[in-house]
Amino acid sequence: MNIRSAASSGRDESRPSRQINIVLRNHDTPAVSGTSAISESSAPKNSAQIGLFQEIGSELDALVGLDNIKELVFEIYALLQVAQMRSEAGLVSGGQAYHMVFKGNPGTGKTTVARIVAKLFQRMGVLTKGHLIEVERADLVGEYIGHTAQKTRDLVKKALGGILFIDEAYSLARGGDKDFGKEAIDTLVKAMEDHRSQFVLILAGYSSEIDYFLMSNPGLPSRFPIQVEFPDYSIDQLVQIAELMAKERDYILMPQAILKLKQHVMLEKDESPHAFSNARYVRNAIEKAIRSQAVRLLNQYEHNSPGKQELMTLRTEDFKL
Ligand SMILES: Nc1ncnc2c1ncn2[C@@H]1O[C@H](COP(=O)(O)OP(=O)(O)OP(=O)(O)O)[C@@H](O)[C@H]1O
Ligand SMILES: [Mg+2]
Repeated sequence: MNIRSAASSGRDESRPSRQINIVLRNHDTPAVSGTSAISESSAPKNSAQIGLFQEIGSELDALVGLDNIKELVFEIYALLQVAQMRSEAGLVSGGQAYHMVFKGNPGTGKTTVARIVAKLFQRMGVLTKGHLIEVERADLVGEYIGHTAQKTRDLVKKALGGILFIDEAYSLARGGDKDFGKEAIDTLVKAMEDHRSQFVLILAGYSSEIDYFLMSNPGLPSRFPIQVEFPDYSIDQLVQIAELMAKERDYILMPQAILKLKQHVMLEKDESPHAFSNARYVRNAIEKAIRSQAVRLLNQYEHNSPGKQELMTLRTEDFKL
């Protein structure tokens, strides 16, 4: 089933995550609740449940851009809600696989979104714990025959009740048939059968490499019905992310500092489009500026403390890019 297109009609495409809140406040909204009595009785009933959806909605809203992902999370939420309603109406429900592929460059929000999805699944009762275990090739692959299968099984065991997130998943297929990566893939495929609906597997990596990886095993593509693209952020989105990150840390950026950062990000993205690490790059730049500001303030205010405003302000000279 193509979940991507399942719940996308009749809604405000520009702010899909807002829909979660709208549904909560108005249970008659046709997009989710329909008109039957079942929907009325199955909509979020208690304040804890309502708080949960608001929490997830606002976590998503706080992320800059990512409209397709916000929409996907809403679709999953809608699907789970409707499955619950169907089950209460005595209809066939569930049986849906939620394993996913996140395709995108570094720093485009894949891990951040995986954490939010884990929380959604836990709150909706799909996963019992809702934790995220993030691993890469070295965590799965061992050094001798049999070692890899054991290591992989142990990690799957740890992930039961939550999400197993494999970063740079394509590296498992890198060495071909003789590589232990293949043993890890086979073990994962088996675990997906043995522990059906006990954990969700998310594979992440660059688009082309993920596609190559999925082709490495004929059983793989159909096991990952949800495939999401994480696009690179635009320059304006990166600046917005920078301002957001500063705000979260109780800092403000002077307009000239924003301009300097913007010009630098443009240059950096142009020079190394494939290695550019998007929001992570911006985060590092902000954290570096915070350290520079601390040194500047200590030098500037040897005998007294700077005022609150000065403690909060990141100036052009703090961005030594
Ligand atoms: N849309 C966004 N809005 C605000 N902050 C974001 C956004 N996307 C990512 N970030 C922030 O950027 C940083 C990197 O994001 P994250 O770790 O989720 O990226 P990733 O795609 O998993 O990267 P990698 O491929 O390198 O593992 C985090 O601090 C995250 O909070
Ligand atoms: Mg990541």
